[in-house]
Amino acid sequence: MKSPSALIRPLVRAMHAYVPGEQPRIAGLIKLNTNENPYPPSPRVLATVRAAVDERLRLYPNPTAQPLRERLARIHRCTADHVFVGNGSDECLALAVRAFVEPGGSRRGTRVDPRTVVQYFTPSYSLYPVLADTHGAVRNEVPLLPDFSLPGASALRRSSKWRVDAAITLITTPNAPSGRAYATRELDALCRAHRGVMLLDEAYVDFADDHALGLALRYPHVLVARTFSKAYSLCFQRIGYLVGHPALIAALDTIRDSYNVNGLGQIAALAALDSRSYYQANFRRIVRTRTRLSRQLASLGFDVLPSQTNFVLVRPPVFPAEEWLRKLRDRKILVRWFSASEVRQYLRITIGTDAEADALVRAVRQIKRRG
Ligand SMILES: Cc1ncc(COP(=O)(O)O)c(C=O)c1O
Repeated sequence: MKSPSALIRPLVRAMHAYVPGEQPRIAGLIKLNTNENPYPPSPRVLATVRAAVDERLRLYPNPTAQPLRERLARIHRCTADHVFVGNGSDECLALAVRAFVEPGGSRRGTRVDPRTVVQYFTPSYSLYPVLADTHGAVRNEVPLLPDFSLPGASALRRSSKWRVDAAITLITTPNAPSGRAYATRELDALCRAHRGVMLLDEAYVDFADDHALGLALRYPHVLVARTFSKAYSLCFQRIGYLVGHPALIAALDTIRDSYNVNGLGQIAALAALDSRSYYQANFRRIVRTRTRLSRQLASLGFDVLPSQTNFVLVRPPVFPAEEWLRKLRDRKILVRWFSASEVRQYLRITIGTDAEADALVRAVRQIKRRG
């Protein structure tokens, strides 16, 4: 009989899984490591979800999440066939890679077939390489500038690294983990120069001054991804969506699971869209805490990158970032550290409540004093 590992595709055997931030169950832990929203879903969302937990649970949910698509279409001034709803934006990203990229990474000599290429900037969302690898696609990683800004369209045109013909290009905007926002006109220039699918991953856009959703309605090859996880405090319910040309949306519908979006999630997302003033107030609170925390950390010697998201990327003083991670964890504060070379000197800190930010600042002062 074959060993179990011989039954696994070599591609899968060789892969490294995406590593999500820890979800430890430690009493009193201040959890600033996974960019969750510190505020609960709106009272209306909680009441609506509670009221929906009844004998309906035996039924399949709406297979296309149609009421949610229609509601999102009204908000974004398009039609429901421009909207795809997924099990979190992670599923939307994974389906886009499957729908638009040829697997196989076929290389003829040294020439890479552009139809097999998944392109993205580094550093950005660390799921992208996993999606490319799972699909057997070719990764094309293009470095951001040292301050994490986007290279300009003309510099990219001259660069041998950038491929205008990559089957799909994924851009995290505002960027994670840097927090930096990209101007819509810069993104527009990149989209215009690009021949493959351009997916703008706007997971954090509700905390930013600007968004690029209009590009998905203007250009047939541009998709914008959004999520209810961050701004709408609904990580648990797994709801994300894409906006784009109906032909691209129909392709995603062809390959998705029949009931890819769970019923309570659909109900929760619709109720969240009915409570927009509650969430607008939360966005403003988070932005205020972000400004205050950034100022305080800067005064304690941290290099704080400007952020348009619900987290800040900071380069700490005195000790290496990995050591700060441990020292803060010892004081029951969890932040995120990435081992990738471009960001290993940094910590990514999710913006929590004001009280959590104050506790972090106290811990930082203590660590600086006592080590
Ligand atoms: C840039 C980016 N895109 C997408 C996601 C995934 O969001 P969701 O919870 O909707 O799958 C995340 C989550 O951390 C993210 O950072």
